[in-house]
Amino acid sequence: MTSITAHGGVLINRVDETYSTAHIQKEIELDNIALSDLELIAVGAYSPLTGFLNQEDYNSVVERMRLADGTVWSIPIALPVTEEKANELTAGEEVRLVQGGVTYGVLTVGDIYVPDKQKEAENVYRTTDLAHPGVKKMLERPSVYVGGAITLVKRTEKDQFAEFRLDPAETRQKFQDLGWKTVVGFQTRNPVHRAHEYIQKAALEIVDGLFLNPLVGETKSDDIPADVRMESYQVLLKNYYPQDRVFLAVFPAAMRYAGPREAIFHAMVRKNFGCTHFIVGRDHAGVGNYYGTYDAQHIFSNFTAEELGIQPLFFEHSFYCTKCEGMASSKTCPHGAEDRVILSGTKVRELLRSGQLPPSTFSRKEVVEVLIRGMQEQPVNA
Ligand code: ADX
Repeated sequence: MTSITAHGGVLINRVDETYSTAHIQKEIELDNIALSDLELIAVGAYSPLTGFLNQEDYNSVVERMRLADGTVWSIPIALPVTEEKANELTAGEEVRLVQGGVTYGVLTVGDIYVPDKQKEAENVYRTTDLAHPGVKKMLERPSVYVGGAITLVKRTEKDQFAEFRLDPAETRQKFQDLGWKTVVGFQTRNPVHRAHEYIQKAALEIVDGLFLNPLVGETKSDDIPADVRMESYQVLLKNYYPQDRVFLAVFPAAMRYAGPREAIFHAMVRKNFGCTHFIVGRDHAGVGNYYGTYDAQHIFSNFTAEELGIQPLFFEHSFYCTKCEGMASSKTCPHGAEDRVILSGTKVRELLRSGQLPPSTFSRKEVVEVLIRGMQEQPVNA
């Protein structure tokens, strides 16, 4: 095992596929977010959580980014149910957690409570604007939350990205096998462009290995689909990274687009996967103009290094400079905006859709080829 301790001290494991659910009548139907949260709790990716948040922890997370016992936790992991369903439930009983007729887990019902979703939006997302995809999703989900400890009784199908689906215990073992003492985690929901590559490699100069850990759970519909991204990561790693210094595995969580709060959450989860360091660049997990460029970096100063237990590595907005003839940031490049190639993921998607190639100063040609093929297979607005 790598020397890094799981968040909260112990790597949680609540998977028990021998657990019989035959005696349990009641069930809660899970949406995709809840199903991915269930599994991530069970395998320890969300350590120290052992279930969906009870009310005290929920309030504490919303108000002060900590569980009730003070442990850093920034995103409420709640199980929303309808009022009708909530009325059926009694604290202390077991309920099956199902999707499409398949039982994946068991919840011992804890608190049943009505969250103040406006407050959750304001505190967690820093906006109540319905145009924010994370806020919209949170408000659309049912209005009552159920807390309580869970057991995962069945793993979700690993058919998609099977070889890249590893549990935290497995990635920890992998890092140890690779001989890495220090590992930097990289969160992404986009193809890896030159700016991402630049900051990853800058980090690789000071740590033993890079854990490329793309989020492949639910994302907004105009993000590039996960299967296309996975292919783009593989061609990039094959052509431009030393094979023994990078490891690719998926993070099957939903994207919340909660910017700063999500950066903390992303860091804690990567710590559980065995990372010692975590990259936070510009507008991490942001969307639109809801967050300041470096808000997701500033938020880390609310916590001590001991509380975080993983070292964040902050990077400036990076770009290709035609005068420097290389990747740079305002920390390393003295030239003006006219010399800088700054393309956003949104801009790239627009270019690709209109049949234009993003320049090599923005994306590696192998990545562009995968994206073009992927876009051609997608409906225009998907
Ligand atoms: S995210 O929503 O998953 O954070 P994205 O995949 O775009 O989005 O970013 C992955 C990581 O790279 C984040 O830490 C982000 O801050 C960082 N990043 C993205 N683009 C740049 C850039 N041009 N300069 C510096 N950091 C960047």
